[in-house]
Amino acid sequence: MTINDYKFAGKKAIVRVDFNVPLNENGQITDDTRIRGAVPTLKHILEQGGALIIMSHMGKPKGKVNPKLSLGQIKEAVAKALGVAEVKFAPDCAKAKEAADALQMGEVLLLENLRYYPEEEGKPVGVEKGTSEYDEAKKAMKESQKEFAKTLASYADCYVMDAFGTAHRKHASTAVIADYFDADNKMLGFLMEKEVQAVDNVLSNIKRPFVAVMGGSKVSSKIGIIENLLGKVDKLILCGGMTYTFAKAHGGEIGCSIVELDKIDVALGVEELAKKNGVELVIGEDSVCCTGYDFSSFAIKPGAKVEVFKSTEIPAEFEGLDAGPISREKFAKALEGAKTILWNGPAGCFECDDFCAGSRAVGDAIAKATAEGAFSLIGGGDSVACCTKFGLTDKVSYISTGGGALLEAIEGKVLPGVAAIKG
Ligand code: 3PG
Repeated sequence: MTINDYKFAGKKAIVRVDFNVPLNENGQITDDTRIRGAVPTLKHILEQGGALIIMSHMGKPKGKVNPKLSLGQIKEAVAKALGVAEVKFAPDCAKAKEAADALQMGEVLLLENLRYYPEEEGKPVGVEKGTSEYDEAKKAMKESQKEFAKTLASYADCYVMDAFGTAHRKHASTAVIADYFDADNKMLGFLMEKEVQAVDNVLSNIKRPFVAVMGGSKVSSKIGIIENLLGKVDKLILCGGMTYTFAKAHGGEIGCSIVELDKIDVALGVEELAKKNGVELVIGEDSVCCTGYDFSSFAIKPGAKVEVFKSTEIPAEFEGLDAGPISREKFAKALEGAKTILWNGPAGCFECDDFCAGSRAVGDAIAKATAEGAFSLIGGGDSVACCTKFGLTDKVSYISTGGGALLEAIEGKVLPGVAAIKG
């Protein structure tokens, strides 16, 4: 079934969204991109005359109640985003049958954090992995997970999966629940459809040249996607903290910059594969470095020095924190004339104005290429935050709400949340 074809009038729809939004210490939402992303699906159901049961996780409460991760905190924000006077709240997601039954058409019920129940993730708690008890506990947990999913399913007539950010998890609410609805009563939401289409644009529907920008601190967390991209892109820009693992792989002096010494072989393997596939690998030659940076407050410590060095000649007391001017020019040039662009991960510590020039250069070059006709897909919390910081959100083609989910989709993996609906 598709969301456009389904007749929601008189029906209760249980919708899995990803409202795992960042909150500040006062419980206020600092980035509502994910809520806004789900609005078209939610409004469509209400406008068609249906009732909404919204469910999501927030954070990682690990199967326990944690008021700091209560979805009750965002009830008002959801009401505002939907333009409704009230969003009802079910403080126990597994005991919401009465509230769901009482729901009238046009009304909205938000369930409490699904991950307060270990059944949501389906992982046994309190048993050590690798032990025989663990295997038994896992089997038992799989059964309770099905029961949990069945309970959630019992609240509604149809199921809509619109949580792209969590679609890479095979959880009760993202996948297992779909078993309790027949094919005519389960579907992807508009956000999922858009995200899947955007991934398809960069994986199957490629217009060349295709340039990918991968940033962030670790090669290890990105290696799957990097290897997959090396079979598809024309140019791959590698930036951010992983620059120094590559510099080290060539015997460079990297000062006290972040490095994964056990991933040097992986870095050399990436270079080898790029050469074999005829992919131009672009890695920053110079870096803006600092002798004292406070990562918790995103500020330079008093008295610390900031200087630019070659990325392979960084003095011992300095740490590379951003792409230098030569690197920035190289990145911008590599993106010139691109027709398909993927950006995941910043080029430096963009949160601090002194170290955001690399990410800004990447963002500006992507915006320019987009204005000239490229399709650009931006994903991952930090790259999205860069677009917001530099005022580029309207100047790129698509901003994904997915972090891990986007990476797995681009690695070519089938997302359980999609498979549960599409088979
Ligand atoms: C995310 O923030 O990437 C999603 O909400 C998924 O969260 P998870 O990594 O805790 O499953």
